[in-house]
Formats: sequence, C-alpha cells, structure tokens
Amino acid sequence: MKKMIWFAAAALCVVGTTAVAADMSGPSMQGGMGGMGMQRGMGGMGGMGGMGGMGMQAGMQPDERISLGMQGPRKQHQLAMMRSHLEAVSDIVDALARGEFDSAAQTAQVKLGMTPQMKRMCNGFQNEDFRNLALAFHASADDLAKALKTHDTSASLQALHVTMQYCTSCHSTYRQ
Ligand code: HEC
Repeated sequence: MKKMIWFAAAALCVVGTTAVAADMSGPSMQGGMGGMGMQRGMGGMGGMGGMGGMGMQAGMQPDERISLGMQGPRKQHQLAMMRSHLEAVSDIVDALARGEFDSAAQTAQVKLGMTPQMKRMCNGFQNEDFRNLALAFHASADDLAKALKTHDTSASLQALHVTMQYCTSCHSTYRQ
C-alpha cells in the first residue's frame, strides 16, 4: 500500500516536472529537483527516474528559439490573440464531440481563419518567415472550416491536426 502511494506521488511529480520544464531555465529548475528526492524512495523504479531526467534536461537547455523582439502593447495583443486561438481549438473539439459540425466550422472560420483582420495583423509582422507561417496557419484554418462543413469526422480531425501542427511548429521555432 505504501509503495502504491510512493508510485502515485512520484508519477505526479514526473508529470509536473515535464509539463513545466518547457518554460523553465536556470535556477527555477530547483523546483524540479524535488522530483529527484522522491525517486530515492522508489527503489527499483528506474524507468520512471529516467523520464524525470529527460524532463530536467529539456528544462536546462537554453531557449534557442528565434526572438521576434515584440514589446509593449503589441506583445500583449499577440498573446491575447494566442489565448483566443487556444479557446477556439477547445470550442471546436467540444462542438465536434457533440457532432455540431456547422458550429465548429463557424468557429474555425471566424476565430482562426483568414479574416481581413487576421490578414492585416499578420502582414504587420516584420519577420518574413514568421509572417508566412502565420498566414499559412490561417489558411489551414479555412481548410479546416471546409472539412468541418462536410460533416466528416475523420476528415475534420485530420484537418484540425494539420492546423494544430502550425501551432506546435511555430511555437518550437519562435518566441516573443
Ligand atoms: C506563426 C506562429 C504561431 C502560430 C501559428 C501559433 N502561435 Fe501561439 N504563440 C506564438 C508565439 C511567438 C508565442 C509567444 C511564445 C513565447 O514567447 O514563448 C505564442 C504563445 C502562445 C500562447 C501563450 C499565450 C500567453 O498568454 O502566454 C498560447 C496559449 C498559444 N500561443 C496558443 C496557440 C494555439 C492554440 C495555436 C494554434 C491554433 C497557436 N498558438 C498558433 C506563435 C504562434
């Protein structure tokens, strides 16, 4: 019974460490060290220890993403847009789960698609590669809206995956 509790606690610890690792560098990783302490009590659970180690390493690497040099209100606006993008994806998944394809398509088009406002905003980005990626991302959301309108779950999820790959590839390449 005691072993079970150790296992659960250590598993939580590893998950926590891995989740926050992406945004951590330097001294703040001390928090992750708590995980190492836990592992000592775990005896033979080498596999879990290995996972904790990977999380730590990722957190200790310097952030080598390309900086866009965003400052002030521009920076705040971009982050607010991002949070709204995440909300849109969440709403689309929810609508899809309910089979409400038209509502999902509407969200994809209005919140993520290439609206005149999005286009204007993206065209204001100085970094050309970033700008092109942003425009391609919004174009993919238009494709997502089209896929959703067919009411085909598999095609819709595939299109959502393509759009979300733009989220992840941009995030791994650029920072503010
Ligand atoms: C063309 C590039 C690009 C695309 C595409 C993109 N993002 Fe971002 N996003 C960024 C950048 C740059 C940041 C700032 C990251 C940093 O400085 O660490 C960011 C930050 C965020 C944040 C953090 C917001 C905050 O308040 O801190 C969220 C959430 C986010 N993006 C969600 C998404 C989602 C969801 C998608 C896709 C549906 C997406 N992004 C697509 C570039 C992009």
